[in-house]
Amino acid sequence: MTPYLIAEHVHKSYGRAIAVEDASLELQEGEILALLGPNGAGKTTFIKILATLLVKDGGKVDILGYDLDQHPEEIRHLFGYVGQDTERSAYARLTARENLVYFGRLRGMSQAQIEQQIEKLTTSFDFNSSLDKPFVTLSGGQKQAVVIMRAFLHDPPLIYLDEPTKGLDPIIARKIRAFLKNTVIQEKKALLLTSHVLTEVDEMAHRVALIQRGSIPTTGTPASLKNSLGATEFVELEKADLPPATYQKLLELKPVLFTMEREAGWISFGVSDTMEGAEAIIHTLREDHVQTGFRHHSVSLEDAFLHYAGALTERFDQ
Ligand SMILES: Nc1ncnc2c1ncn2[C@@H]1O[C@H](COP(=O)(O)OP(=O)(O)O)[C@@H](O)[C@H]1O
Ligand SMILES: [Mg+2]
Repeated sequence: MTPYLIAEHVHKSYGRAIAVEDASLELQEGEILALLGPNGAGKTTFIKILATLLVKDGGKVDILGYDLDQHPEEIRHLFGYVGQDTERSAYARLTARENLVYFGRLRGMSQAQIEQQIEKLTTSFDFNSSLDKPFVTLSGGQKQAVVIMRAFLHDPPLIYLDEPTKGLDPIIARKIRAFLKNTVIQEKKALLLTSHVLTEVDEMAHRVALIQRGSIPTTGTPASLKNSLGATEFVELEKADLPPATYQKLLELKPVLFTMEREAGWISFGVSDTMEGAEAIIHTLREDHVQTGFRHHSVSLEDAFLHYAGALTERFDQ
């Protein structure tokens, strides 16, 4: 199947500052891909390039058979975009409905098409009761719902959302995630979103592209990124209570793969087998008569992210 979007070696600088160094990715029909990276990693710059709002310095982008440089006009019909600034993405004094009608007309949609789409979107968003309130009077979550509906209004195959749930309360954020997931899968769209909320990405994304200093070195499913660490679980012990000799013994246990400090004061032992790992560690602590704080954690996307971000930082700092 041909991907909806293919970006190859995209590069962009602001003056001498490199914002996107070398970003490549593919986005398939029915797929939710999350660009995950810390602040300043280049997520917004990259997504704005794909949305024809910024011109790249190098690289190639193909969207449903159109080249981004040669056919920006055609490409503008193929996506819906929501930027980071929700407040300024709609007219404050117009109602939610009036905003949607206005933007639908700008897109050249007929009144009947617009009404049909508003009906469909507000039903799946459960938004009907707020449709005739002025945008300015809506809550943060409702405003975000309006601008997301705006992105879906002309029924484009591609959707770009820059931090769609930033600053929203958890209930609204969950509702937005559910809407996006259902719509993208059912209607065979493709969604590219940016986020630095790891739990959200883990819940929503079919694939994750880790972006760090404007490069995308690693892409994979949330599960494959977690698995690539090699450990299934972390057994964590309180550092202060752990004699060095016991620590050495623990490192030599068969199920123990590596250690890392996920949180100050605790040593995390990545183990290959949850039960066996915990058992071997407890056995050693008993043998040495060590009493220590003990807890365990499943490997999270955050662990994978920190692992890859750490490896990358080392490489960049050399
Ligand atoms: N208009 C601009 N002029 C100069 N530098 C910019 C501009 N916009 C972004 N940057 C810089 O580019 C880098 C990437 O920014 P951005 O794409 O906003 O990252 P993110 O969305 O991941 O936080 C940052 O170092 C940022 O300071
Ligand atoms: Mg950003």
